[in-house]
Amino acid sequence: MAQILALIFIFNLHFTSVVLAAGDVKNGENLFKKCISCHGADGMGKKSQNAPMIAGQYDWYVVSQVMAIKNKVRDNANTKKMYPFVKGLSQSEIEDLAAYITQLPVKK
Ligand code: HEC
Repeated sequence: MAQILALIFIFNLHFTSVVLAAGDVKNGENLFKKCISCHGADGMGKKSQNAPMIAGQYDWYVVSQVMAIKNKVRDNANTKKMYPFVKGLSQSEIEDLAAYITQLPVKK
């Protein structure tokens, strides 16, 4: 029984680490250049652009919202400005962006 539990534990650990390793921070940093004009180099957003702070945001939320904007599930006058910058991104590029954005320090 203990051996079976140990196996289940190891199995779960394996999958957890695969999930955490999903985003490539370096590639995300490179892709983030597309986002700076509105969200700022520090990810703190710009009121003049109606662009919110995204620094430190949960990676899963960044992925869900960028996907929603890319797929026009989230669609309004503001997201229409962002759309051209995200329409060509793949799921894995969006995950890389999220890995970079989530580790940016919140400066507020
Ligand atoms: C042309 C300006 C512009 C660019 C470039 C831009 N965004 Fe945005 N982004 C916005 C605006 C404006 C909003 C607010 C949308 C709304 O009001 O619904 C937003 C919203 C978001 C949100 C949702 C925030 C929340 O709290 O729900 C995320 C995440 C995001 N942007 C990520 C990105 C990423 C990643 C990039 C680069 C690939 C990017 N944006 C490029 C203008 C921009």
